[in-house]
Amino acid sequence: MKITKLLTALTSLLLLANVGLGQTIVGSSHDFSTQSWNTTGEICICCHTPHNANISVPDAPLWNHQLTIATFQLYTSPTFNGASTITQPSGSSKLCLSCHDGTVALENFSQTTNGTHYISGVNNLGNDLRNDHPISFVYDAALAAADPGLWNPTTHPSGIGSGTITNTMLFNNKMECASCHDVHNSTGIAHLLLKTNAASALCLTCHNK
Ligand code: HEC
Ligand code: HEC
Ligand code: HEC
Ligand code: HEC
Repeated sequence: MKITKLLTALTSLLLLANVGLGQTIVGSSHDFSTQSWNTTGEICICCHTPHNANISVPDAPLWNHQLTIATFQLYTSPTFNGASTITQPSGSSKLCLSCHDGTVALENFSQTTNGTHYISGVNNLGNDLRNDHPISFVYDAALAAADPGLWNPTTHPSGIGSGTITNTMLFNNKMECASCHDVHNSTGIAHLLLKTNAASALCLTCHNK
């Protein structure tokens, strides 16, 4: 009896530990296979293609969605130390904004350019990024030295595997949308987050507050 109880307790513990792990894009808010506007019935194709990919964004992974051509208003504040390196959305952030700025139709992939369905509501970030967490700027040891409110990303663990912030959250040393989000939902955490933000754990990964 006691052993059964112990086993039950252990099993629930393991189940709890597993919550949020081993999830995939299937059934997530990025699974567009059943959307009326997606006549292919596929998932990956809205963003990727094995052939004839768009390579105009450096390092884009076999990109298949029409890109935004918008010019964005960038984050600014007197205490923002990344102001000297911030640029127009680069890398994968430009890919995200090719749906999330609301200027490119969702079904504009595989050379289609005449779609009529656009992202809406809170998911539409628009072209004004002054009210969003800054992205596309360098976060390195020098920035952390200039701002003691930041952990040194090259040495501070991210809590994701055994990697540092630089290894597991940054892209060419830069902050991007994917520094906080997992586009493929592999964590299973709400809002496609890269790690839980319970008790602000995500924020406190980089901010030494
Ligand atoms: C809504 C758009 C979107 C969909 C749908 C999507 N991806 Fe991605 N994928 C991205 C973006 C953006 C990146 C680059 C950012 C990153 O790596 O986090 C990426 C990166 C990748 C990479 C390279 C980096 C890595 O994570 O290994 C692979 C491989 C990949 N995707 C495979 C897939 C496959 C397979 C599917 C379908 C099952 C899929 N993706 C569906 C947007 C998407
Ligand atoms: C092909 C278009 C497309 C691309 C590319 C894309 N998204 Fe999305 N994303 C959507 C749509 C559409 C929704 C809203 C789905 C819905 O209404 O439930 C969404 C929802 C989200 C949500 C909200 C999820 C939730 O459950 O609250 C987040 C966060 C998100 N996307 C982040 C990203 C990030 C980060 C990238 C790039 C790494 C990205 N998206 C790339 C189309 C896209
Ligand atoms: C510093 C971390 C961080 C960065 C960088 C970031 N996000 Fe988010 N995002 C979050 C968190 C946390 C949420 C959950 C909602 C909340 O707490 O407001 C969220 C929510 C969202 C949502 C759901 C709508 C909403 O407001 O709840 C979308 C869509 C989204 N993010 C897209 C993006 C895109 C696109 C980028 C890049 C341009 C981006 N995010 C960059 C942390 C981030
Ligand atoms: C992957 C690392 C990372 C994560 C996660 C992260 N941030 Fe940041 N954040 C930064 C960096 C780097 C800066 C630039 C700081 C600077 O130069 O002053 C920044 C800037 C900011 C700023 C603007 C500071 C200023 O001086 O204008 C605020 C506010 C902020 N973050 C809040 C948050 C919140 C809230 C969260 C969680 C939802 C979060 N951050 C998650 C790295 C991160």
